[in-house]
Amino acid sequence: MVLSSFPYRRGRRLRQNKGIRLLVEEMSLRKSDLICPIFLREGSNIIESIPSMPGVNRYSIDKLIPYVETLISSGILAVSLFPLTPTSKKSSNCQEAWNSENLVNTATRKLKKNFPELIVMLDVALDPYNSDGHDGLLLDGKINNDETLVALERQALIQAEAGADILGPSDMMDGRIKKIRTALEANGFSDTLIMSYAAKFASAFYGPFREAVGAQGLLKGDKKTYQIDPPNIEEAIREVGEDINEGADMVMVKPGMPYLDVISEVKRRFKFPTFAYQVSGEYSMLMGAIENNWLDRNSTIIESLTSFKRAGCDGILTYFALDAAKIMEKGG
Ligand code: PBG
Repeated sequence: MVLSSFPYRRGRRLRQNKGIRLLVEEMSLRKSDLICPIFLREGSNIIESIPSMPGVNRYSIDKLIPYVETLISSGILAVSLFPLTPTSKKSSNCQEAWNSENLVNTATRKLKKNFPELIVMLDVALDPYNSDGHDGLLLDGKINNDETLVALERQALIQAEAGADILGPSDMMDGRIKKIRTALEANGFSDTLIMSYAAKFASAFYGPFREAVGAQGLLKGDKKTYQIDPPNIEEAIREVGEDINEGADMVMVKPGMPYLDVISEVKRRFKFPTFAYQVSGEYSMLMGAIENNWLDRNSTIIESLTSFKRAGCDGILTYFALDAAKIMEKGG
């Protein structure tokens, strides 16, 4: 590469005004890149705040409809639903996960009826339903991988039947993508997409989410026997490759900002639709600083999301989805 030097080249010529800067912009964030996670709860006429995630609420299903209407009219195409399950419906066999009338399945049917174009994604994992707080079944004090697969298959089929467009297995059990894909094909759901939480790290940044779905106090031990150890990028690459081989349509890296190197490597190696989850703790961290006026709100939100695109993401799950769409609308 021949590089001219000063003063033949002045880097600042390309930055001198907004028009020139836009002309040489290498990529940009779009509203259609964003997937909005939403927390649900039982009851009616309830919008309940989540203390550790300022600005994020739990919605009863009736209140979900107007909220999603706002999202859609702001240009958001996709949502991902998470339930706060009452303790009375949690159990160690997690049967509420494959109740076709559970919160997320009921909400999915209602959303698809009201907004047929809306893309609905559902998490496939047992933790919101598990009295042990884990993503897998705890048998004799240990996570039982293969028994968990049976439960995940049931959960996934019921979710596909409810009308979910995308299933997001977030449990990190071995073999789950193959199990779910095989079941979907065998049951006439050949169009149901799988976005695998393929490189999901055992992270401290999920704390506020666990409060939001009421799993915090219940979790026995930690998730280190199934989620990836934070230093391990090679292991993350192997996990992604495996999930692609087993039938994932899209892959995700999670959390996001602390793992931009992993995102970049996944995209470079596999050339596959790649997503990041800007998780609850990342949201809380940024919002904490924004609320204290330590960071500028709009530019912080857009810069954090743009970093994912630059690293190679096709899309991002983010609690800032609506805020970002509004900022982009104003040309921020
Ligand atoms: C659980 C699940 C988690 C998140 C999404 N699905 C938490 C966990 O693995 O403990 C985290 C999302 C967030 O922190 O925003 N299967």
